Amino acid sequence: MPIGCAYIILKEITAMAQKKTILDLVKMKETGEKAAWMVMYDACFASYAEEAGMDMILVGDSMGMIVYGYEGTVPVTMDMSIAHCQGVRRGAPNTYLIGDMPFGAYHASVGDAVHNAVRFMKEGGVDAIKLEGGVAVADKIEAIGKAGIVVFGHIGLTPQSSAAMGGFKVQGKNTATAKAVIDDAIAVYKAGARALLLEGVPEEVCAFVHKILPIPVYGIGAGIQCDGQVILAADALGMYKNFTPKFAKKYCDIGEIATRGMKDYIEEVKGGRFPAPEHKYKFGGDIDEFRAFLEETEKNLDL
Ligand code: KIV
Repeated sequence: MPIGCAYIILKEITAMAQKKTILDLVKMKETGEKAAWMVMYDACFASYAEEAGMDMILVGDSMGMIVYGYEGTVPVTMDMSIAHCQGVRRGAPNTYLIGDMPFGAYHASVGDAVHNAVRFMKEGGVDAIKLEGGVAVADKIEAIGKAGIVVFGHIGLTPQSSAAMGGFKVQGKNTATAKAVIDDAIAVYKAGARALLLEGVPEEVCAFVHKILPIPVYGIGAGIQCDGQVILAADALGMYKNFTPKFAKKYCDIGEIATRGMKDYIEEVKGGRFPAPEHKYKFGGDIDEFRAFLEETEKNLDL
């Protein structure tokens, strides 16, 4: 085998070996290395995430708003989620991938929950699933975990239940509601979740959950005292215009760059400056013969 080929294969094997497992996430917690993960939905962005060294990617049901233009996450289906997981997996073959169980995929029965979690693994190529809810879904978490699937819990502000919460509202802002969040965290852990995401809670609440639970605890809008952060790529990269939560930081403005690029394109098309010579294909045959053929064709046209 030529040395070049051997080198490429070795490089690929090394790259594959770098894909994280749940044990790596636990190790990161133990060593105090924070995990950085992002929410995205397609192969193109996933390839950039992998190149950037993202620890994990979540294919979130926020695709309902960001990709499909709905007002919330409720309309997202299993088929939509799986298709997006497949795309992300192709774009980032060596990044830890989490599939987000959509609304209705695990609520009716434990059977539904296990069936749909298995679909995420078999069809979506994910490494773990995430589902929203605490005490109320502990039986589903337990059953999915017993099927050998890594479950990430998600409590606090849970967008799928925003109607029941009266909107996208920060949770646990007083002792009574903080107790409910903490009870949910304990229930999720006891049910066998291997990691937990807290969304939209005061930092003190997240810090306490992080202190008492031995599993990785991550945050989104939950302060810094936990094992890592997740953010929507659409928020962090400046792609979503409709709403930006207080906790989101814009690291760049793809929206602005895209609008500028589109304006330039429109201007060049209308001004006859695009395509330029370097964007055209050359005719490779006998040009005289071709011209004669066109002349003959035009002469005999019957339109
Ligand atoms: O769907 C999503 O984007 C999420 C994040 C809010 C974590 O669940």
